Amino acid sequence: MGQLIREKEIFAVAGGKGGVGKSFLATNLGIILARANRDKSAILIDADLGGANLHTCLGLPTPETTLSDFLRHPSMRIDDVVLRTSVENLSLISGAQDFLGIANPKYTQKIRILRGIQSLRADYIILDLGAGTSFNTIDFFLLADKGILVVVPEPTSIENAYRFIKSAFYRRLKFLTTDPRIKTVIDKAMDRKNDLGIRVPAELIDYVGRMDAEVGRQLEQAARNFRPRIVLNQVRSAADIRIGYSMQNACMKFFGIKPDFVGYLENDEQVWQSIRKRKPIALNGDSGKCMRNLVTISNNILNDAELKLD
Ligand SMILES: Nc1ncnc2c1ncn2[C@@H]1O[C@H](COP(=O)(O)OP(=O)(O)OP(=O)(O)O)[C@@H](O)[C@H]1O
Ligand SMILES: [Mg+2]
Repeated sequence: MGQLIREKEIFAVAGGKGGVGKSFLATNLGIILARANRDKSAILIDADLGGANLHTCLGLPTPETTLSDFLRHPSMRIDDVVLRTSVENLSLISGAQDFLGIANPKYTQKIRILRGIQSLRADYIILDLGAGTSFNTIDFFLLADKGILVVVPEPTSIENAYRFIKSAFYRRLKFLTTDPRIKTVIDKAMDRKNDLGIRVPAELIDYVGRMDAEVGRQLEQAARNFRPRIVLNQVRSAADIRIGYSMQNACMKFFGIKPDFVGYLENDEQVWQSIRKRKPIALNGDSGKCMRNLVTISNNILNDAELKLD
């Protein structure tokens, strides 16, 4: 008899920039999802191949078994590196420790990790990604059903987030077509100074539509389906929160993509302390503002909803 295949949802937490709170959000999302329902399980995966530290965020010692073992031993299955945590229904796949070897995994290794992740049995899988816009990070982001971008209200972070959205979207488009001419145009468009006059995704879609109307329509459809979730972290004022909406408008205007603004977290001494004490906020038994905002973010992501301000 065929095995019952459980539907699972994969979430990826990215940010383009370092130190914006990706691991903090991924950890607490994992805990909230694992605790929301007794029958649901979650696996947190440290996919920050160059700087694994999710175990520390969870308050665990350096794990014995990590993704490096999975990559080093072709006979190992990804299930062999799934570790239990102190939270019921929450498991962890720890990132590589000897990062020099795996920070830039070979193509075949990357495919092995991606396939492994898809084969995992859990209701929710949460990937904590590294900073930057390398293809490795983007490919993990594109694997997810829902990609989350953490942004802090600083020009550098906002700029990196736009760059991340654009790079991820172009890479998705490139996988959609087999026509080498169109692939070349997409590659060229990635360079802002390209000689085709394509500056933004909407112009790329127009350009491709003129080459091949059918592919143009496919790319338009892909733009409609591409829905990164924006989380603003470390906000200090109401004006900071509005950045979420202005980013959404700018993406629609220039990229033809509509991200969902799913929530924000205030700049909060408690967050810093929770990380120092290695005790995630979602395990504090705390029902303060930070926890409420984390739950709002988690619900909005699960329900395909957006932040509603009172
Ligand atoms: N809402 C917040 N309020 C106060 N401090 C915060 C908040 N969010 C994050 N921080 C601070 O930012 C630091 C970095 O957070 P975190 O490690 O989650 O970022 P990251 O994006 O995963 O970084 P990296 O790119 O290095 O993986 C934390 O140690 C904490 O001190
Ligand atoms: Mg991190």
